[in-house]
Amino acid sequence: MAGTITFTMIKPDAVEANNIGPILAKINEGGFRIVAMKYLHLTKEQAGLFYEVHKERPFYGELVDYMSAGPIVAAVLSKENAVADYRTLIGATDPTKAEKGTIRNLFAKSIAANAVHGSDSDENANIEANFFFSKLERF
Ligand code: RTP
Ligand code: MG
Repeated sequence: MAGTITFTMIKPDAVEANNIGPILAKINEGGFRIVAMKYLHLTKEQAGLFYEVHKERPFYGELVDYMSAGPIVAAVLSKENAVADYRTLIGATDPTKAEKGTIRNLFAKSIAANAVHGSDSDENANIEANFFFSKLERF
């Protein structure tokens, strides 16, 4: 059965563009409930650890630099079928390929500065949520 939580970050480009509010509105309109949320600036080491799964990919260094370049919003979201439904709501990694009306279509600047992160599996949703939040920080 599909899980009920996913993990997201509003990335530095979207925070810088003052789009935290509009993105949270899209998340709520999409039927997601916010279970946990924080606003923080990741160190390079923390961003490197979070994206360790991508260590061998050519864009890893750029991704880590980018995700530690400014503050982000991290959140755990709940809904039935959360992982797949959230990826539908955010659209393709490359904003030029993202469906009209998706978060990346509306707010992303480029493939690297693509406004939001969304977990790609139930297993990773749990790992990512646990990276940022303790049990005491979830409601
Ligand atoms: P995310 O993990 O952030 O939700 O994005 P995703 O699943 O759609 O894409 P993924 O393959 O997991 O890549 C993670 C992030 O790395 C950056 N990226 N840059 N320069 C490039 O070719 C490239 N490819 C990916 C993006 O910020 C992507 O969201
Ligand atoms: Mg991914």
